[in-house]
Amino acid sequence: MLPDEELLERRQRVLGRNAPLFYERPVHLVKGKGVWVTDADGRDYLDVYNNVPCVGHCHPHVVEAIATQAGILNIHTRYLHETVVRYAERLTATFDASLNSAVFTCSGTESNELALRMARFRTGGEGVIVSDFCYHGNSKMVAELTTCFPVPEPFPAYARKVPVPDPYRDRQGMSDEQLADHFAAKVAEAVASLQAAGIKVAALLIDTLFANEGLPELVPGYAAKAVEIVRKAGGLFICDEVQAGFGRTGDAMWGHQLNGVIPDIVTLGKPMGNGHPLAGVITSSDLVDEFGKVANYFNTFGGNPVSAAAGMAVLDVLEGEKLLENARTTGAYVRAGLERLKDKHAIVGNVRGSGLFFGLDLVHDDADRSPATAECKRLINLMRDRGVLISRIGRYDNILKMRPPMVFAKEHADILLSTLDDALQAL
Ligand SMILES: Cc1ncc(COP(=O)(O)O)c(C=O)c1O
Repeated sequence: MLPDEELLERRQRVLGRNAPLFYERPVHLVKGKGVWVTDADGRDYLDVYNNVPCVGHCHPHVVEAIATQAGILNIHTRYLHETVVRYAERLTATFDASLNSAVFTCSGTESNELALRMARFRTGGEGVIVSDFCYHGNSKMVAELTTCFPVPEPFPAYARKVPVPDPYRDRQGMSDEQLADHFAAKVAEAVASLQAAGIKVAALLIDTLFANEGLPELVPGYAAKAVEIVRKAGGLFICDEVQAGFGRTGDAMWGHQLNGVIPDIVTLGKPMGNGHPLAGVITSSDLVDEFGKVANYFNTFGGNPVSAAAGMAVLDVLEGEKLLENARTTGAYVRAGLERLKDKHAIVGNVRGSGLFFGLDLVHDDADRSPATAECKRLINLMRDRGVLISRIGRYDNILKMRPPMVFAKEHADILLSTLDDALQAL
């Protein structure tokens, strides 16, 4: 095995000096099982960050499904294949009846790109409204809509950004209803601004849990009024479920099912194949058929037989091991533990999240809520050194982000909570 220093040096040379890596001391992983990953020295880490292996690293049922199908047939997507059709039927059955058609892709980026193309096709509009701290992928159209970090492409003239409500930071005496109204008013401003520039609205595109925005508690009813405004202007509602989907919240299979508004298009990715590159767009068969007539969309690898077998196996495990229920019960247990840490450590200003998706908003002072950005960076490195992998996110990079594989159990929660307690003490 190459020593880490040499591997890092060679990686930088061949993959570029800026190819992102987590942690001050990058982790060199060689294997994983369940919620555990192991580094090249044989050290185990509790994985509290990765939602891609959503049913657990190397889940035997998923591994077997992939290996078996790979040993029978894998081919591009322009042939009849029973598993592909069965998978699409089973997946779409988890959505509202209006969302009854799937187009498979290989990444969240491709899904969002396709969703925007479909929205523009359907509405005849070009305008897109996104949050002011978002990431939806890395193709040209999706990358230029990025608002959470700098990109070389200028923010496009056809787009507008709106701040999403964060009750902890923005409440300022406002009720939930006022916060929802405030968000709707910002969306109305964005619509008016596009119209004033002669641009018709095509879509409001949001991540239903606002994961990159820092996972603020969802304001009840925030979506309904905003979506009504967008639809009145002729636009569609696209929900990016790349992080929120597949039961992560425990309360529903899809994040949008928590906000009570049925989207026009849903985009999927990360956890869909448990690490196998499978993603997709879910929308009405009417839109898929109409778009298909003119776009001739095909995706060589998207939803091939091996991918479909992987996706099907993920659904088997989610159901068979009752992982939504686990997200609810273990999630509630973790959340209670995080609340106790908040009472103990002044730096923890706010506990947020639902199911198995948590954030801690770290602040210098709960009164002024000044973000503890440097401390947050130190903390994730202290956690890494103590064998627990988490990360950080949000406008000020001060929100601890925890989103483990969904086979996370109470025994793992206890390790997370005691390690976090210890690392917070060490800060
Ligand atoms: C909310 C969201 N949408 C889309 C994407 C892009 O997905 P991918 O990296 O599979 O293209 C990401 C990736 O982090 C994401 O967080």
